[in-house]
Formats: sequence, structure tokens, C-alpha cells
Amino acid sequence: MSDDGSKATDGRATDAPAGSGAVTASIEALFSEDRTFPPPEDFVARANVNDRSLHDEAAADVLAFWARQADALDWVRRWDSVLEWNLPFAQWFVGGSLNVSYNCVDRHVLAGRGDKVAFYWEGEPGDARTITYGELLDEVQRFANVLKGLGVTRGDRVCIYMPMVPEVVVAMLACTRIGAAHSVVFGGFSAGALRDRINDADAKVLVTADAGWRRGKPSPLKPNADVALADCPSVSGVVVVDRCGTDPDMVEGRDWWWHDLVPAADPACEPEAMGSEDLLYLLYTSGTTAKPKGIMHTTGGYLTQVAYTHKFVFDLHPDDDVYWCAADVGWVTGHSYIVYGPLANGATSVLYEGTPDHPARDRWWSIVQRYGVTILYCAPTAIRTFMKWGTQEPEKHDLSSLRLLGSVGEPINPEAWMWYALHIGGARCPIVDTWWQTETGGIMISPLPGLTTTKPGSATHPLPGISAEVVDDDGNVVEVGGGYLTISQPWPSMLRGIYGDPDRYAETYWSRFPGRYFAGDGAKLDEDGYLWLLGRVDDVMNVSGHRVSTTEVESALVDHPTVAEAAVVGANDETTGQAIIAYVTLKGGQEPSDERGEDLRRHVATRIGPIARPKTLVFTDDLPKTRSGKIMRRLLRDVAEGRVLGDTTTLADPAVVEEIARRAAAAPAEG
Ligand code: PRX
Repeated sequence: MSDDGSKATDGRATDAPAGSGAVTASIEALFSEDRTFPPPEDFVARANVNDRSLHDEAAADVLAFWARQADALDWVRRWDSVLEWNLPFAQWFVGGSLNVSYNCVDRHVLAGRGDKVAFYWEGEPGDARTITYGELLDEVQRFANVLKGLGVTRGDRVCIYMPMVPEVVVAMLACTRIGAAHSVVFGGFSAGALRDRINDADAKVLVTADAGWRRGKPSPLKPNADVALADCPSVSGVVVVDRCGTDPDMVEGRDWWWHDLVPAADPACEPEAMGSEDLLYLLYTSGTTAKPKGIMHTTGGYLTQVAYTHKFVFDLHPDDDVYWCAADVGWVTGHSYIVYGPLANGATSVLYEGTPDHPARDRWWSIVQRYGVTILYCAPTAIRTFMKWGTQEPEKHDLSSLRLLGSVGEPINPEAWMWYALHIGGARCPIVDTWWQTETGGIMISPLPGLTTTKPGSATHPLPGISAEVVDDDGNVVEVGGGYLTISQPWPSMLRGIYGDPDRYAETYWSRFPGRYFAGDGAKLDEDGYLWLLGRVDDVMNVSGHRVSTTEVESALVDHPTVAEAAVVGANDETTGQAIIAYVTLKGGQEPSDERGEDLRRHVATRIGPIARPKTLVFTDDLPKTRSGKIMRRLLRDVAEGRVLGDTTTLADPAVVEEIARRAAAAPAEG
């Protein structure tokens, strides 16, 4: 499909909008047969996009289109050329220079909006802080000077391992101010995962906290960091936010308290003019091998696309909206749609530290009501969890401020879409199901809420400026039907590579279909030209919207002294999308037991992080293998999902899989 492939269903000209305020009619429509939802008339009337002009502009001249989006930023020096494309290496806005923190903070303050709220922050225990753009500018400059004082200079890497506190945003922006790249490591990752990421990035400084609040208890970070740092020779300084008062060990000469350094720091720090193609950040993500990939994002193109998508996909009206992206800043969603997109656009956001069920299962809805949230962006896993908890939770609160809902991270099943639309959106809010990846940097496929008629479960169409096509096994473009999702033209926020491994970049993303970026996802196009994402087609699982590699979990298992062999698959799961199922063969002399199973699960959580902990672990005497020794994961997936076993004739020993099926049926699963 090309930029303008959505003509038939995407415009006001062809779709009559639903009657304004007609909630009853909308509810009926929710359960009607065809289940397509044109944008409500009152939404259309004041939407940033309510006609096809963006599509038309992009179709007429895509580079001029992107240049216009880039012009929404403040550049120190304008670019000489919009794109230099040397497949698979792209450079955007070549010759241009700018500073990201200046674009996200200074320019709003200089325009007289220093008192505007950047973040309403709420901690899990209920403490709260309101941070204006003016205050953010002050903290960012001070922390930038702290980093300089610790020897960080332009071109260095800084690792950030923090809970969801305002300081994490300050730390990220401070890096961009002085031209250091950050590498944020999700606070749920273990010491070993942190160590590997610090070493791969060769980071000079680590910014962390003693702990963060999770379900009423401090969840430690600094102790993990200390374990990691024992093997991280590149790190010479550590800055620690005292979030929970847990009094962690502090190493003299290496570890410093945030509250000692920041107030004492020089409050003025000039932003560095960075090249458009200078490294902005690294973000590690799971691939099909055990080693996570350091995805590289650069400066000008990235900020252009995240600002553009944030403004148009979320229909941002910065003076009126209170926007809440409920992701963690440790994932790409947090980078692009908590930090860079919203701040570049001068938005007011909510930032929440904790879990949705603390102190009770209505925490999110109390936040929506308290701050008058107008736009909510979250993952289908969260929505399915709320479905399970029941409608009485959102019903305790007034959610009438909401006007737009977003979904990201995994396919949203139509039932969850409908529940979200009805019980959170009051049958009044359009839903934007946004498809993208760590690698794409910004949203690629999504409805435009004032224009696109949506279908529950479909991410609809590529955004203006994006060329997505479904292809078959041979790389032929599919007009209607299933295949692989590919991107056929470069886009500004695309990854620039895998840190330290250009060959792996070309091989991973550009070799399966020559000339095309292959995203790893299956997709189908229906008769109306709507895209339906069908999940990963590689050995990557998607658990609660987080990517976990089967190979990474397998290596964590076989790394345990009792394990001989392991195979891991993702099986469909009602709540988390996929659940991790592990099949484990123990070494001779080791006996399977519930305790051993629990021990192995814990081992994986310690090695990688709790998100990688297998839900079910099945002990097997053998794994189903082909005669050439390849593990047949397809059969293990059949077993995990309780299906009739597929073709077993290529197995070396067909009896193996029957025995596994028997044991799997009896294996305990975690709730
Ligand atoms: O499989 C797709 C799924 O999440 C993968 C990307 O994961 P990650 O890099 O962690 O980024 C998640 C947040 C952008 C994709 O390859 N995915 C993401 N969004 C959707 C989705 N699958 C279906 N529908 C979506 N809206």
C-alpha cells in the first residue's frame, strides 16, 4: 500500500460522521454488524487533521512533506539535503544542526510558556509534583552541568536505570543538552541485563535511584546496579536519586546523591548544537538471538517524526489537553511518547510511577479524574487486565474528560477494543491503534482520529509519509490477503543501525526482502485496504507488550547448572497476549520437581528480569527434533496452546511429543 492507499475509507468525503453527542446511537453502533466507526462529528470539527491534505501533500512530494514537518522544530542550522539514502543506511536533514533539549524545553519557555505544566507527576504512595516547563529547564541545565562535572562530554554514553520519577526525564534531556547519548535500561531488568547493556554501550556514567515504589514496597535498583557495576569498568560515576529512603551502599568517589549535586550545580548550561545525524540514544531490544541489540536513534529525523506523529495521531491541542501515556520510560513508547514527542509539542502530561492496582484497582481512573486526562495511551494487556477486573472500577470515577484513546505494543483484539471504547471512552472517544517498533522510533501505522473510519482490531493505514506494504514469501506485493509487513521507503525516525554491528543491522532488517525493511510482523490487508497486524513471525515473543526473545530465555535456562537443554515458545494468553512456556530437559542425575521448576523460573527472572519468567515450565526427557537435530518449536506451540498436534512425521522420535503433551497438561501454571 502506498501513502494514499486509504482513499476509499479514510475521508469525510466518503464517510458520513456519526451524529454528535449521540451516545446511545454510538453504543448501538458498537454492537452493530459492520462495526466500523467514523470519527464523531464534534471531534472532526476541531481535529488537527480532518481532510486528506496531509495525505495529498505526502503523495505529491514526500521529501518536501517531511521537510515541512522538520520546520516545526527550531534548527540552529537548516539542513542542506532532506535525505541521503544509501540502502540500508539513511541520513535525514543532512547538514542541519539542532538541540533536542532546546526544542523540548527552552523554546517553550522563551515563548512565554514557562509556567505551563509539563508534567503532573504522581508517585505510587500518592505523593505528587507539578513540574512546569520553567522548572524543567532549570533542572535540566543543572543536571547537564552535573554530568559535565562527572566527565561526560559530547559523544559519550550515559546509562539511566530508574523508576518513573521526574528525574528520569531530566536525566534524558540533560544528556541531549550536552550531546551525550543515553541508554535507558528498564528498571525491571536484572543486574546481569544492566551489566551487559552498560558494557555494550561503554557508558561512562550511570544514573539510578535507590529504589522505586511498586505495590507499596520499594523495588530496589541501586543494589542491582552495584552488582552490575562490579563488572563495568567504563563507569566512573554514579548519580543516585533517593526515592524510597532505603539507604543503599554508596561507594566513595564513585557514587553521588542527586540531592547533593543538583541544587549545588551551575544553573546555566548552553545547549550544544548537534548534527542532525548525531546519536541521540541507544535502546536495547530483544532480537532473535540471545544478545540484545542496541538500537541507534539519531537527532533531527527522530525528533521530527515523534513530534509530527504525536501532534496528529493524538490530535494534540497543547493548550487544552492533558495527555497520559501510561508506558514505562524504559521502553521506546516512553522515549517517544512520554518524553520527546509531547515535550517537543509543548504538551501537558501525566507521569505515574506505580502499578494500576495500588492501593486499589481503580488507581488509573482516579488519576484520569484528578488531572482531567483528555488523551490516554496504553497497551492492550492493560486493557484486558481492566476487563478482567470489571467495569465497576472505571465506573467509580468521572472519565468524561477523556476524548481520545490510544493503543500500542501488540495487536488489540476486537473485544478489548470494544470494551475500551465503551467503558473507558464512553462510546464517545475515537481509538487510535498505533503500530510501530523500537526500530521505527515513531508511529508508522495508525488511524488519524479526525479522519479515519476505524475497525476494531485494525491499525488501519500507514500515516502520511510512510510507505508500508504487505508482501508474500517471494516479496511480491499483496493487494488483499495475508503476508509480511514491510516498509518500502526510508522514514525520518528509522533506526540508524545496531550499535557496534552494522552487518547485523543489514542482515536482520534488510536481507529477507531485498530493498525493504522487514519488521518481523505478519499482517493482512482486507478488501477495504485496512491493515490487520497478526503478531511476530520470528522467534520473538510479545508478553504484555514487551519483546522477549525465545533464545534469550533458553540461554538463561541452559545456563543453570542442572539444565541440559531447553526450548521456549510463546503461547496465546488471554491477558498478556503471549505467555512464556518453557520445556526443559534436566542433566542426568537431576530429578524434576515443583521446587526445581520454581527455582528455574526464578533463575530466568534473575538473569533477565521478571518479565521473562516462564508462566509454565514443563520437564521433558527429550525435545521434539527433526532428524537433523532442529527443535520443532511449531509442535511445542501446538502443545502449549492445546491444539491437535501438527505433522510429526519429520520428527526423529514422534513419541517424544506425545509424552510432552501429556506432561504439559499436568504442569502447573502461574496465575
Ligand atoms: O509485533 C509488533 C508489536 O510490537 C512489536 C514491537 O515491539 P517494541 O519494539 O517493543 O515496541 C513496542 C512499542 C512500539 C512489533 O513488531 N506491536 C506494536 N504495536 C502494535 C503491535 N502489534 C500489533 N498492533 C500494534 N498496534
